Amino acid sequence: MNSNSEASKSNAERLIDELDKGVGYGSVPAAIFGNDDLYKEELNKVFGRCWVFLAHDSEIPAPGDYVVRKIGEDDFIVVRDEDGKINVMLDACRHRGVQVCRSTSGNTSHFRCPYHGWTYNTKGALVGAPLWKNALEGTAKEDNGLAHAPRVELLHGLIYASLDASAPPLREYLGGMAWYLDLLFGLNEHGVEVLGPPQRFVFDADWKSGSENFAGDDYHLGTLHRSVFEIGSFPVSFAENMKGYHIQASPGHSLSFSMANSVDEPGPKFLGFPEALAASFNTARISAEQLEVARRARVFVGNVFPNCAILALPVTEDGSKHAPTAALTVRLFQPKGPGKVEFWNWFFGYKNMTPEQKERAYTAGLGTFSLSGVFEMDDTEPWTTISRSGNSVAIDKLGFKLNYKMGTPGIGIAEPVRENWPGPGEVYRTRYEEGVQRNMYRFYADMMKAAPGEWPSFEMDAGRSTALRKDADAKAPSAAEALEK
Ligand code: FES
Ligand code: FE
Repeated sequence: MNSNSEASKSNAERLIDELDKGVGYGSVPAAIFGNDDLYKEELNKVFGRCWVFLAHDSEIPAPGDYVVRKIGEDDFIVVRDEDGKINVMLDACRHRGVQVCRSTSGNTSHFRCPYHGWTYNTKGALVGAPLWKNALEGTAKEDNGLAHAPRVELLHGLIYASLDASAPPLREYLGGMAWYLDLLFGLNEHGVEVLGPPQRFVFDADWKSGSENFAGDDYHLGTLHRSVFEIGSFPVSFAENMKGYHIQASPGHSLSFSMANSVDEPGPKFLGFPEALAASFNTARISAEQLEVARRARVFVGNVFPNCAILALPVTEDGSKHAPTAALTVRLFQPKGPGKVEFWNWFFGYKNMTPEQKERAYTAGLGTFSLSGVFEMDDTEPWTTISRSGNSVAIDKLGFKLNYKMGTPGIGIAEPVRENWPGPGEVYRTRYEEGVQRNMYRFYADMMKAAPGEWPSFEMDAGRSTALRKDADAKAPSAAEALEK
C-alpha cells in the first residue's frame, strides 16, 4: 500500500490496521475503546452483519407474544405469530418510519402505528389502514409490510438474527462454539427456560470490554473479585478455580472452564446444578464426552461474538443462609453509543427444575451477577475507565498499545493441549492465558476489514491468534518489537 493510500485512510481504518497487524502478537491499540469513529463502523460491519442474540423462545410461548429487542441500536419486534413461527421485524412503519410498537413486551394480534393507523399482523403483513378506500385504494398491501431480519435461527430456544442475508447458517457461524453451547443448554431433553424478564442497566463502557471479559478474563478474579472468594459466595478457592481450560472454540468465539482434574475430586459437579436435577442429565441431546466435561465443570464462561456472554457457575447471595447453586445467565453488552453500553441479563433454569430450585437459582444469580450483585459491580467500574482513557487525547498522541500477550510464545505458561480433550477448538490447559481475547479481536478485525458480503474464514487455524502467524512470518516483528509498536 503506498503512502498516498495510507494518508487517505480514516482514523478508524488506521486503528483497525494496527489491530490487524498487532493482535496476533498481543498488541492492541487502546484507542479502539470508546472510539466515536470506530463505533459507527462497528454498528455497520459487526452488528449489521453478525448473528446477534435477541431473546429466548420461552419469553414468547403463546401466539401473539412479543418482545422488542435490538440489533445494534435498532429496535426489532420479536413475535410469535398465529402459526407459532417466530418473526423478527424492524419496528418502523412502512408509511413514515414511525416506531410502531410502544411497549417492550406483551401479547397482541396486531401492531397499529400511532401516527396514521397503518396496522400489521404478527407476520408483519399490512392488513389495513384508516380510510383505505379514499386514501390508499390501489396500494399493494403485500409490498408494504414490516421489514423482516433476513436471517433468524434458534439454538436451544436462543433466538439469533442477522441483518446480512449472506451470513453463514448459525451453526456454521458458531463453529466449535456450538459443541460447548449444546453441552450447556442440552444437558437433558427438557431444555431451558428464562426465569423472569431480563434485567437492564446502562453504564459508560465499551461493549467490547464486557465481551472480552466473558471470553475468559480469569486473570482478574483474584484481584477484582477477591472479596467474593472471602465471603463465601462461591464455593471454590481461588487456586482451585484457576484449574481448567481456555478454549478458542472457533474464530471470534471463546470460552473458559474452571474444571476439576477428575470427577473424583471434591467440589461442585455439573456447574453446581442441584444433585437431584443432575440425575436427569443424560445423553439424549449431547454426547457422552460432552456429559463428562459438564460433570467436571465448575464454571463455564464464554462469549459468542460479538456481544453475547454466557455464564454458569455455583453461587449464593448469602453463604450463611443458602448453599451455592448453579446460576445460568445469558448476558448482552448492547451498544448504545461510543463508550456506552446497555447491559441485558437473563437468568435461565432447566424446565424440569422444581419451583424451589428455580427460585434459588434466580435469587442466587440476582445476588451475585446483577445490578445488585457483588460480581457485577466489581466488573463494571474498571470497564468505564477503559473507554474513558481509550477516547483520550493522550492515548491518541502516544499511540498507546495494550498488552494482550499472556500465552504468546515465551509469555506465561500456556501451552496448547489437545490430548484427552474431546471438544473442538484450540485448547489450553490453563486459565492464565489471553488467546481467548486475541481470538475475539482477530475476528473483530477481520469483520471490520471485510467487504460487504465477504466473510472471514470460519476454519480454526491452529495458533491463529496465539503465535506468530505463519503467513506473516516474513514480515513479522519480534514479540518485543510488536510490543514497542
Ligand atoms: Fe405509520 Fe403513517 S407513519 S401510519
Ligand atoms: Fe468479573
